Amino acid sequence: MFVVTGASGKLGRLAVQHLIERVDAAKVVALTRTPDRAAGLGVRVRAADFDDPGSLARAFEGAERVLLVSTDALGRRVAQHAAAIEAAAAAGARQLVYTSLVRAGEPGNPSLLAPEHRETERVLAESGVPFTVLRHNIYPDMLHLLAPLREAVATGVLSGGGDGDHVAYVTRADCAAVGAAILAEGGHTGQFLEVTGPAAVDRAGVAEALAEATGRPVRYERRTRREEAADPAARGVAPELVSAARQFWDDAAAGWMDVTTHVVERVAGRPPVPLAEFFAGCRNELLGG
Ligand SMILES: NC(=O)c1ccc[n+]([C@@H]2O[C@H](COP(=O)([O-])OP(=O)(O)OC[C@H]3O[C@@H](n4cnc5c(N)ncnc54)[C@H](OP(=O)(O)O)[C@@H]3O)[C@@H](O)[C@H]2O)c1
Repeated sequence: MFVVTGASGKLGRLAVQHLIERVDAAKVVALTRTPDRAAGLGVRVRAADFDDPGSLARAFEGAERVLLVSTDALGRRVAQHAAAIEAAAAAGARQLVYTSLVRAGEPGNPSLLAPEHRETERVLAESGVPFTVLRHNIYPDMLHLLAPLREAVATGVLSGGGDGDHVAYVTRADCAAVGAAILAEGGHTGQFLEVTGPAAVDRAGVAEALAEATGRPVRYERRTRREEAADPAARGVAPELVSAARQFWDDAAAGWMDVTTHVVERVAGRPPVPLAEFFAGCRNELLGG
C-alpha cells in the first residue's frame, strides 16, 4: 500500500494525482488532518495529525511505501515528523520518502528552515527503515512573496538590492512527480536527492522569464540598500516579510540555492518546467487580471 501524507496540501494533493497515474488507485491511501478536503482525490482517505501520535497507528496501518510531506508548523516539525516516522516504521513500512529542503544537510546552511529538515533527515536515517530524502529547491510560487512581480510587469522594472542570486526554482508539480515516481517504482534508498528546476536564474533571469511569459518588456534594476528599504514601505509590505525576503536574496547571492541537477528528468522521466513556462501558467495574474 502507498501512503501520501499531507494530502490536503498543495504538494500532497499533486503527489496523489501523480501517483494514481502510476499505480492502482485502490492501493493508495491519503492521510490528512482534514479528510473532507481530500474527498475528491479518488483514493481512500484517513485522518492523521502528526501532533496526535495516538491517531497515527491506525492511519499508517498497512503502509509499505510512504511519501512523508514535511509540515508547515515551524518549531514543531521535528517532533511531528518523528511521530510519523515512528508510526510508519511500527506499521512495517519498507520505504520512507521525505520532502526536505535544498542543501538542508549542510550545517552552515543559513536558512531558518534548514535545521528542522536536517534533524528530520537524521531521525529518518536512524529509523532503520530504508529511506529517500528529496531536497526540494525553491518553488517558483514563493517568488510572489519574495519579489514584486506584478509591479515589475506593470512598470517594466523588477528592482531589488543585490545580484547574482541564482536559484534553481522547481515547481511543486515536478517535485510531486518525483515523489510519486519513487513511491511507485521504489529504489533510490539511502539517497539524498537535490530536486531542482532546469537552470539556476538570478533576478535578471526572473525579469527575463517574466518578459517571455507576458510579452511585456521587463528588466532587472539593482537598487542600493537604502533605495530598496524605501520601496517596501511605499508598498505597505509587512516588515517581517521585507526582512525574510532580504535574508532569502542574501542567501541566494551566497549560492545556497544555486544547485541544478537532473533528478526530475532522471526519476520522473520528464524535463523540469522552466521558470518562464511556470510564469506563463499564471500570466493573467501577473498582468493584474
Ligand atoms: N521548497 C519550497 O520552496 C517550499 C515552499 C513552501 C513549503 N515547502 C515545504 O513543503 C511542504 C508542502 O508544501 P505545500 O506548498 O503543499 O504546503 P501547504 O499547502 O501549506 O500544506 C501544508 C502541509 O503541511 C501538512 N501539515 C501541517 N500540519 C500537519 C500536522 N499536524 N500533521 C500532518 N500534516 C500536517 C498539511 O497536511 P494536511 O493539511 O493535509 O493535514 C499540508 O500537507 C510544506 O509543508 C513545507 O514543509 C517548501
